[in-house]
Order: sequence, then C-alpha cells, then structure tokens
Amino acid sequence: MTKQTWNATQYALNGRFVADLAGGVIDLLDARPGEHILDLGCGDGALTAKIAASGAQVKGVDSSESMVAAARAVGIDAQVMDADALDFDHEFDAVFSNAALHWMRNQDTVLAGVHRALKPGGRFVAEMGGHGNIAAIQVALLAVFSKNGIDPARIEQNYFPTPASYESRLRHHGFDIHYIELLPRPTPLPESGMSGWLQTFRSGIFQQLPEAERESALKETVELLKPFLCDDLGKWTADYVRLRFLAVAL
Ligand code: BEZ
Repeated sequence: MTKQTWNATQYALNGRFVADLAGGVIDLLDARPGEHILDLGCGDGALTAKIAASGAQVKGVDSSESMVAAARAVGIDAQVMDADALDFDHEFDAVFSNAALHWMRNQDTVLAGVHRALKPGGRFVAEMGGHGNIAAIQVALLAVFSKNGIDPARIEQNYFPTPASYESRLRHHGFDIHYIELLPRPTPLPESGMSGWLQTFRSGIFQQLPEAERESALKETVELLKPFLCDDLGKWTADYVRLRFLAVAL
C-alpha cells in the first residue's frame, strides 16, 4: 500500500483552500480563552493559529515532519506524533481536527486516544471527508492505474464514512453525539487545477509508477476528469463531501 507523504511548500501552493474553507468547523469548535485544545493533524498550523487567536492554548500534532516544521516556523507549539499513538491523558478541553481523520488507518485506536486526551465532558470537533468524497477522482485514478498494471488494492485509500457509521463508531468509544452532518462541498481548485491537486494529495499513488510513466498517467487522469470537473473557462472544482461533527466525551 502506498503512503501519502506531505511537502509543506507544495501544500502551501496547492492546498491552502483546505484551511480557507474551514470556517464552519472552527465556528463549531467555539474555542474560548484559556481552554486547552489539541489540533489533531495540524498540518502547517494555519488553523491552529486561528484557534489560538481566540485566546485558547493550542497544541498541534501531525505525523509529517515537514508540516510540523512549517507550523513551528510560525510559532505554533507543534510536535510530530502519529494519531494512533496519542500520548495525552485527560488534559484537553477540546480536540479539533480538520481534513486529517480520513488519512488515519486505525480509526479505533485514534478514537480511543482522542477520548483519553479529553477531560470528561471535553469536545471532539472535526471535519473530514465523508461518504462519496472525491468519488469521480477516485474512479479516474482506478481506471488509469489498473490500465498501467497497478493493483488498485495497493493504491492508498481514504476513509470516508457515512454519518450513521461514524456516529456508531464514536458512541462505541464513549462519545455522545451533539451534531453530525454530511455536507456536499464542490470545491473550486486554485490555478494549478486538477494536476496540482493530484500532485499534492495523491503523490503517493503516482510514485508507484516508474518515473518515466508518471507524467502521462497524470495527464490521462486529468483528461478523464475534465468533462465532469472542469468548466468551459478552464476552472476546476473537486467533488468534495465533508462529514462534520461535534461529539462530547462521556
Ligand atoms: C479531503 O480533504 O477530502 C481529501 C484530500 C485529499 C485526498 C483525499 C481527501
């Protein structure tokens, strides 16, 4: 199975929209001055800084060294830590996460760690890819990679649950669900379009191919998607669907 790797410089160019579109989940968090908050999958710290601006004390963790270095460079208290090895004991008023949970393979271990990190009554507020997220992009990748002899099962998959499925998982780990909703969010991409998106968010998959074949596979994927996700002005929109929730640790 390929593993996605992150490059903070490339992410800043092609992925800034992820933080820019997170206003709704930041509002749902409703961070208050003096609260201790953990940002799980903090990336380059763009949202961690927004949360800290509320007066809360925020710590970020991320599995990517490149991202943690970028977060530290802007003054965030950030640490490299895998989400399935969270090392916190009932110390946070809230755990926040944006666009990170869908990368995590061991969901049950992650949720157990989040619950353990929270004080009783603490909030877990998050947004992740939900059921149907990037369906067209995934199908195009499967088509191109199957043709190139790459077993689709080896292609990195994300976890995009339905609200019912994730609610049941959260309950199993001792959370009460105050809000959970699936939100279709067609997302306009920056100038780099689908090619930039694929090179940023699916780099692990393209690295499966011999270097000489990557460019043509990338072009082929973009061409397959063009009639569905690109308008006649050349503007690309990704078929995003979000799952947003607020759960409280019992
Ligand atoms: C997402 O934020 O939904 C997402 C981003 C990259 C790959 C897969 C999903």
